[in-house]
Amino acid sequence: MYPLRELLIMEQLKKYFNKKSVYQILDIATGEGQFIKILMDIFPDASYTGIDPNEESLQIAKETFQDKNIQFFKMRAEKLDFENEKFDLVSISNGLHHLPHLETSLSEMKRVLKPDDLIIINELVSNNLTPAQENQKFYHHLKSYTDRLSGHFHHETWAKQKILDIIQQNGIQIEISFDYFDGKNFITETENIDFWVIRLKEHLEVLKDRSVYQELLPKVKEFRRRIEKDGMEHATNVVVVGKI
Ligand SMILES: C[S@@+](CC[C@H](N)C(=O)[O-])C[C@H]1O[C@@H](n2cnc3c(N)ncnc32)[C@H](O)[C@@H]1O
Repeated sequence: MYPLRELLIMEQLKKYFNKKSVYQILDIATGEGQFIKILMDIFPDASYTGIDPNEESLQIAKETFQDKNIQFFKMRAEKLDFENEKFDLVSISNGLHHLPHLETSLSEMKRVLKPDDLIIINELVSNNLTPAQENQKFYHHLKSYTDRLSGHFHHETWAKQKILDIIQQNGIQIEISFDYFDGKNFITETENIDFWVIRLKEHLEVLKDRSVYQELLPKVKEFRRRIEKDGMEHATNVVVVGKI
C-alpha cells in the first residue's frame, strides 16, 4: 500500500500517460530510488536507470531494488555518460534545487531523451503554503543553509512560478502541470516534536566549530515553538510533464 502522497502523484501521471509506451527511463538525482518506486507503478514494464553522485544513497537504492533489473550509476546530472537519444522518459524528483549547474544539467537531460519524448519534473514549492507547511520549509531551508556553509550545493526551494520559468527558459514546453500535497501532519505526539527538533540540531552540529553555530542555535527554539503551535506538513509539490 502506497502512502497518500505517492498515490496522489501516481493517479495524475497514470491518467496523463494512459497507454503511452515508455521503454527506457532515466531518473536523475535518484537518491535512494524513491521516485523510481512511483514510476514503476505507472510504467511496470519499462527498464530503469538511476543516477546520483551520492554513493551511500545509491547503495541503499541497489539493496532496495536488488530483485529488479535496475541500473544505478554514480554520476552527476551535468555530465551524463549516455549516448544521445537513449531514453524515452527522463525524470527528476526533488532534485532541481540540488543541481549546481542547472542549465547544463537540463541540457544534458534533453540530449539523452528521444525527440518528442517526455521529461517529468517533480519539485517542492516555496509559496502559498499553510503555516504547517511553512514549518517544513523553515526546517528545509535551514538544512540547505547548513549544507551550503559546509560546501555542498543546496539551493532553497523556489516559488512555483520560478520553477515553471526555469523549465520553460531551458527549452522544455509544459504539456501538463499539477500541484499535490497530502496534508499529513508530522506532529501528532510530543515525541514527534522532540524528534524533529533533535534532527534539526544534528544538522546544525556540522557547524559547531564555527561562529555561525551560536547565531543559528536560537532557530532551533524558534522551530520548536512553531511546530508546537502549527505542526508540520510536507510542502506542496509541483509536477510538470514537459516536451523538448
Ligand atoms: C532530496 S534528494 C531527492 C531524492 C529522490 N529523487 C526523491 O524524490 O526523494 C536530492 C538528490 O540530489 C542529488 N544530487 C546532488 N547533486 C547532484 C548532481 N549534481 N547531479 C545529480 N544529482 C545530484 C543528491 O545526492 C540527492 O540524492
